[in-house]
Amino acid sequence: MEEENVDLFEKVVNLTKRRGFIYPSSEIYGGFSGVYDYGPIGVLLANNIKNHWWKNMVQKRPDIVGLDSGIFMSPKVWEASGHVSGFSDPLMENKKNGNRVRADHILEEIGVVADEKMSIEEINELLQKNSVALKKTGFNIDEYSEAKYFNLLVKSNLGDFTEQNDNPTYLRGETCQGIYLNYKNVLDTTSQKIPYGIAQIGKAFRNEISARQFIFRTREFEQMEMQYFVRPEEEMVEYEALKEFRWKSLLSLGIKPENLQWHKHENLVFYAREAYDIEFKYPFGFKELEGIHARGNYDLTQHSTYSGQKLEYFDEEKKEHFLPHIIESSIGVGRLFLAILCQSYTEEQVGDDMRIVLRIPKHIAPIQIAILPLSKKDELSIPASSLFEELSDNFMCQYDETQSIGKRYRRQDEIGTPYCITYDFDSINDNMVTVRERDTMEQERVSISELVVYLQNKFKS
Ligand code: GAP
Repeated sequence: MEEENVDLFEKVVNLTKRRGFIYPSSEIYGGFSGVYDYGPIGVLLANNIKNHWWKNMVQKRPDIVGLDSGIFMSPKVWEASGHVSGFSDPLMENKKNGNRVRADHILEEIGVVADEKMSIEEINELLQKNSVALKKTGFNIDEYSEAKYFNLLVKSNLGDFTEQNDNPTYLRGETCQGIYLNYKNVLDTTSQKIPYGIAQIGKAFRNEISARQFIFRTREFEQMEMQYFVRPEEEMVEYEALKEFRWKSLLSLGIKPENLQWHKHENLVFYAREAYDIEFKYPFGFKELEGIHARGNYDLTQHSTYSGQKLEYFDEEKKEHFLPHIIESSIGVGRLFLAILCQSYTEEQVGDDMRIVLRIPKHIAPIQIAILPLSKKDELSIPASSLFEELSDNFMCQYDETQSIGKRYRRQDEIGTPYCITYDFDSINDNMVTVRERDTMEQERVSISELVVYLQNKFKS
């Protein structure tokens, strides 16, 4: 990472802690690697990101319905999906201190690709072949064990009351399996017909070897996934439409197009027809934000074989049975959250001061309006509290009467609040307040009776 970008990334990480976006898990016990907690401001931003996705994916799409399936499923699901046998990353362990690294990540740093389809022998050969180049980056392969594949599924003993736990249940490694299992239920209980989709937001768990880059790669994370069931011959046309739809959805969230790029997967798994990632320009480089895959009929074939159930679709018009093909869109809430923060972080000189502003797109700002009485005295705090009550019916508001007005403005700038409203001594007589805009810092005097409509128009524009 270039120095300037290291700096930006550190600043973003520090800000998230300082302002209640993200806390490390179990901090008072020294932390718990690969897990993070979303604080009071973070949970608002994450909810807004999820609501935007849901609105685009479900509310505005008559052909897509929602689902909330269980985190736990029959262990057979993960055998059928191929996760028990093949959901692994190549792990190497430091012989002295036991530190674990991913061999493919180590190779990636010198521009060598070790893809998912490679055998462990091939990866170890690649490591040997590139040992000199790796040494130049400070990585000495002699200090590490040979690479071996490590399965990422997280095991539990749910429903198993034996000591041995020979038949573990798994915490789901991706949310889409719950969608596949309910594809027939949805068809039988709604008016949906092929092509149609099921969308789901929920937690997924992976025993990531090297959880890293803050919330970019964690062991517990949330996914927003949509699986679209199509006629086989329409798979690629629908796939192109989904790619375009998802790109536009990210732009409508407020991601800048110059921060996005497509990445085509060259080495596809055997069943995939095509796979693209949308990458975001994080401070540590362009990295996967979302995966969009044409999966053929693999998933339904596998679940049909392992469950013994027929999962074919009957097209009543054409009087024809077929197994639908699936195209999917899958994106992590945390990765999108981090993308929004990195893109929004700005510093600017204001007089002698450095102002930090999070220019979060206004429609997803965690706090929309801050209500700031100029003083704590009852004559201001009582009417300002009433104003909070009135506005919070329509907006996510925060009431703050601590410290100087300047410090309060800076605090709101740092959490990306688009509008601050100051109730001052003149307000008592003229029933007007000062509205300050986050990005321009311009201030306008607005009548309290017109405030709700004034602010609604601001957010609309
Ligand atoms: N159902 C397909 C699937 O799960 P994936 O590429 O493994 O595909 C999809 O994951 C998305 O989930 C990724 O593009 C990323 O946004 C997010 N994701 C995956 N692993 C993650 C992790 N360890 N931490 C945070 N987000 C993750």
